Amino acid sequence: MTDQRERVREAYDDLAETHFAERSEEPAEASLLDEVRDRIAAGARVLDAGCGQGTPVASGLTPIHDVIGLDFSIEQLGLAADVVPRADLVRGDMTDLGFDDDAFEAVCAYHSIIHVPVPDHAAVIGEFARVLRPGGVLLLSSGGTDWAGSHPDWLDSGVEMAWSFPDPEETREMIVDAGFDVLDWWIVTDRLGHDEDGEVLDPDDPDAYEGGDPVGKPFFLAERR
Ligand SMILES: C[S@@+](CC[C@H](N)C(=O)[O-])C[C@H]1O[C@@H](n2cnc3c(N)ncnc32)[C@H](O)[C@@H]1O
Repeated sequence: MTDQRERVREAYDDLAETHFAERSEEPAEASLLDEVRDRIAAGARVLDAGCGQGTPVASGLTPIHDVIGLDFSIEQLGLAADVVPRADLVRGDMTDLGFDDDAFEAVCAYHSIIHVPVPDHAAVIGEFARVLRPGGVLLLSSGGTDWAGSHPDWLDSGVEMAWSFPDPEETREMIVDAGFDVLDWWIVTDRLGHDEDGEVLDPDDPDAYEGGDPVGKPFFLAERR
C-alpha cells in the first residue's frame, strides 16, 4: 500500500466518528441512486466501494438489493455495521478487489476514489470494470478540479487527511478507457469539499457556501460495455 493510502486509512480510523457527524445528507446524492435502481433488478448484487459509514449508498440500496460494502478502514466498517446491519461488509482496498470477474450488477463509489493517488485511479476504475458484468452500472464521484493535497486538521479533528484527483474530463476519459459508456454526469454539492484552488472548505463557515458549493463533485453514471 502506498504511503498516501496508508495515511488515509489510518486517518479514517482516527476520525470516523467526526466524519460521520459532519457528513451531510445531500438530497442529490440520494436521488442519484434511482439511476442505479432503475437499471438493475431487485436482489441484484451491488458493491459500495469505499462505503465508509454505510450512508447514503448501502443504506439506500439494502432494502431491495444485495449490497456488499467495502472499505479499508476498520472504524468506518464498524460504523457501517451499526447503520446497515443487513449489508455484507468487507475490509479491502479498491485498487485490488478480492472479487471474481463479473460479480456485480452495479458499483457505487461515493467520495472514495478522491483519496486514492491519481496514478492509481485508472487501476481502481479498471477493477470496477472487471468485477461488473457487461451491462452493469457504475456510479462514481470524483474531484471537481485537478488537485492533490492534504489538510492538517480536517474537520477540527486533529487528524491530517489527504486527497488526490484529476479534473472531471480526465476522470471521464479513464472511465471510457476502462470499458464503459458514460451515460450521464452531474455536479453535486459537497459540503466537505474543496474550493476552486483545492482549499478544503470549512463546513461550519456559511460564507464558504454562499451561492452554493463553488466547485462541487462530478458524479458519473456509466454502463459496462
Ligand atoms: C469520504 S469517505 C466516503 C464514505 C461514503 N461513501 C460516503 O459517501 O460518505 C471515503 C471512504 O473511502 C475509504 N477509502 C479511501 N480509499 C480507499 C481504498 N483505497 N480502498 C478502500 N476504501 C478506501 C475511506 O476509508 C473512507 O471510508
